Amino acid sequence: ADQTYDYDVLVIGAGPGGYVAAIRAAQLGLKVACAESRETLGGTCLNVGCIPSKAMLHASEYFDAAASGAMAKLGVKVTPELDLEAMHGQRRESVKGLTGGIAFLFKKNKVDWLKGRASFVDAHTVDVAGKPVTARNVVIATGSSVTPLPGVTIDQKVVVDSTGALELPQVPKRLVVIGGGVIGLELGSVWRRLGAEVTVVEFLDQLLPGMDGDVRKEAGKIFKKQGMALKLGTKVTGVSVKGKQATVTIEPAAGGTAETLEADVVLVSIGRRPNVDGLGLEKIGLELNARGQIETDHDFATKVPGVWAVGDVIPGPMLAHKAEDEGIAVAENIAGLTGIVNHAVIPGVVYTQPEFAGVGLTEEAAREGGRAVKVGKFPMLANSRAKTNHEGDGFVKVIADAETDRVLGVWCIASVAGTMIAQAAQAMEFGATSEDIAYTCHAHPTHSEAIKEAAMAVRGLPIHI
Ligand code: FAD
Ligand code: NAI
Repeated sequence: ADQTYDYDVLVIGAGPGGYVAAIRAAQLGLKVACAESRETLGGTCLNVGCIPSKAMLHASEYFDAAASGAMAKLGVKVTPELDLEAMHGQRRESVKGLTGGIAFLFKKNKVDWLKGRASFVDAHTVDVAGKPVTARNVVIATGSSVTPLPGVTIDQKVVVDSTGALELPQVPKRLVVIGGGVIGLELGSVWRRLGAEVTVVEFLDQLLPGMDGDVRKEAGKIFKKQGMALKLGTKVTGVSVKGKQATVTIEPAAGGTAETLEADVVLVSIGRRPNVDGLGLEKIGLELNARGQIETDHDFATKVPGVWAVGDVIPGPMLAHKAEDEGIAVAENIAGLTGIVNHAVIPGVVYTQPEFAGVGLTEEAAREGGRAVKVGKFPMLANSRAKTNHEGDGFVKVIADAETDRVLGVWCIASVAGTMIAQAAQAMEFGATSEDIAYTCHAHPTHSEAIKEAAMAVRGLPIHI
């Protein structure tokens, strides 16, 4: 380490942004510590986010496949019985294994894990659980937490956030979800599959803001078909709890007659906001933007020399892989290398069934400003593998620049859309045209062939429709 400091790099927060930054900085020969206030490493993603939600989505999908008769249609007759405690047990095991894995990686790479809350004393001194720690560089990777709904108290029993919704001890009879975004649809799907009557209340007139318009429209149809009640263009004006029951008061977003919904559990999932409280940013003169985020330049440096920031606490999509890539880049920049993240090519995936995924521009954004675009669409029903697997919901949509044919965005609704989207991201990173994708040999029979066919459809020449 630099002789005047305890560490070359102190990372605050051990989520996907922070732990990855710490490991890469150590790999590059720097002396590194990572402060974390949680008992375990891995941040929101491993403890209460990506991983436990996928554990519940995966398990509930099996239950639903049996209970809905989908398996019987394939000739596999079973009558499922729910053992919710076992389902929660395997979720906890996944989390334990993966958070423990980060502790192992810290040891392997000689990253010091400092347990406790961190707060700036000055730009190179951070108090961690009452002890001053000095570092030449400090990386803020404190992540985000749930945005509260004014007037609604989260008690984690009747009114829950995503953390409470992952751990419900019983399947609620009626679940009301406030917010038809990623969390609401993923966790709403878990409990719907396990038998809850789910109503999603969304302020906007479509689900999944930020996704392509066609995808959002189709999402509404698919979730309705699966049995979710959707109240779009509707706002929640209050939630009152009496004993174990909640009454949710809603009215049209534009104003109008109020009505009420009864619920056993209410999930508040209206977005997340950066974690900056108690960090002592005022001590180093670091101001927040209007959205409460820390601004950085392209290198992930803040305005304060020696202080850097990555992940959910800075602008951009609040996604684990975005945080990880920024973690690698910031460590490389601190080490004097050139760390870059291409924020134009960050895939997003909603892990429902089917999955919803996209990368790059929506058709709406691509057309903004008068750019000419060509669009190719291909339905999953015409993809032989999806059809054979009875996974015909969805489509692939490729958006290309009309002049240069360069791919501007790809959107997929398919059972494995999250896996399919990686090839689209890679193609876009390499500056591919839709023709490049159309003439790349894809294995048959795979869902991915639908991306090739949608690329062929950009020029009006798909084979299978
Ligand atoms: P975090 O993961 O939030 O980590 C920050 C860490 O900093 C925390 O552990 C916190 O305890 C610690 N910390 C904060 N302040 C201090 C302090 N002062 N001192 C010490 N430690 C501090 N993203 C995906 O890409 N895919 C998914 O499938 C997905 N699913 C999700 C499901 C749910 C239910 C939720 C809530 C989120 C999900 N996300 C998903 C989002 C993903 O979890 C975040 O984008 C990601 O965790 C952000 O990483 P981060 O390192 O910026 O912050
Ligand atoms: P979100 O931003 O995805 O969705 C919130 C929704 O709530 C929006 O549709 C919004 O219009 C609506 N809303 C806001 N205020 C409302 C109100 N008062 N009444 C009704 N509706 C209202 O946020 P969400 O679902 O809470 O997730 C937070 C973040 O976590 C996401 O932005 C995402 O980045 C991350 N995440 C990612 C996952 C993934 O990658 N698969 C899974 C879960 C979370």
